Amino acid sequence: MNPGPEHSPSADPTSPEVFRAVTILRAGGLVAFPTETVYGLGADAENAAAVRRIFEVKGRPEAHPLIVHIGRPDWLGHWVADVSPDAQKLAREFWPGPLTLILRRGSRVPLAVTGGLETVGVRVPNHALALAMLQSFGGAVAAPSANRFGRVSPTRAEHVRDDLGDRVDFILDGGPCSVGVESTIVDLSSGEPAILRPGGVTREQLEAVLGRLVPLRHGGPVRSPGQHVLHYAPRAEIVIVGADELLKRAADLIAAGRRVVVLGSPSAGQLPSRLEILPLPDPLADLARSLYDILREVDRRGFDVALVTLPPDEGLGLAIADRLRRAAGPRGPSQ
Ligand code: TXA
Ligand code: MG
Repeated sequence: MNPGPEHSPSADPTSPEVFRAVTILRAGGLVAFPTETVYGLGADAENAAAVRRIFEVKGRPEAHPLIVHIGRPDWLGHWVADVSPDAQKLAREFWPGPLTLILRRGSRVPLAVTGGLETVGVRVPNHALALAMLQSFGGAVAAPSANRFGRVSPTRAEHVRDDLGDRVDFILDGGPCSVGVESTIVDLSSGEPAILRPGGVTREQLEAVLGRLVPLRHGGPVRSPGQHVLHYAPRAEIVIVGADELLKRAADLIAAGRRVVVLGSPSAGQLPSRLEILPLPDPLADLARSLYDILREVDRRGFDVALVTLPPDEGLGLAIADRLRRAAGPRGPSQ
């Protein structure tokens, strides 16, 4: 269901780069690595001191749990207390892929990884270099997205360089990420499965495999940075508008002296002068792949405000709309 791993000149699983990444992980260092969703900032999950450095480098509060990345689906049992039938079904269907399963924590996972929680998020990423690194490492790699806390997630190695620079020991360059939004997080740790964060695997796909409805759970008892209202935010103000009010809002903002860009293709009408447009790719998979690049472009070009209409909450539209709502934060309509 996912496009295969990206191929770039450096996407060679036997490369010396992979060896270097593994050596650094074994020594307790930090490696930024590509996945199909976004780049991760990884450390040996069993090395609590290395894991604590992730939080320092990201500027992220320590109570927020990290996802544990493993190289093979059948390693799941080493890292969780038990593998439920639902977990088996989802892992079989979607791993390697953009799906994180929340299960009860196995004793090998330090509390530093889970932010003190008795549950742990695990996934097998679908990227040739990540898999080569994880399989050769043999253990688990704890990794959040490789961006400063609250900033846009990196979908290219140069985004990591821009954001974290020499605070990471090594950046494994695997080219641009093929999915472009983070993994779907499904909580299987208690009662009924629920989606904590929509992502690269759609709600419809999960429901088809589990044979029942999988609700989205907002907020809840779990401290989850993916659930902060303002997250994935560029510097510019992102404003979510209905298609019918887009041109009027743009004209008003321009009249107020703001540099305005519309993300998408405004339907025919009188375009205000000085309005700039960044077209959004179609279909949704292409939009997801370039969404964070586009948010960075808005900042690079110095816009004050970006106006955008949301895709419908279906398929990948659910994850895209979720990230745009978060980027708009409390300044946009409430979610
Ligand atoms: O696609 C992805 O998931 C990327 C790549 C690098 O794998 N990772 C990622 O990590 O997005 P991060 O840390 O930026 O977001 C992980 C989300 C956070 O919202 C975190 O709170 C949640 O996963 N999470 C991790 N462990 C959890 C747990 N035990 N219970 C609830 N939420 C958890
Ligand atoms: Mg993140």
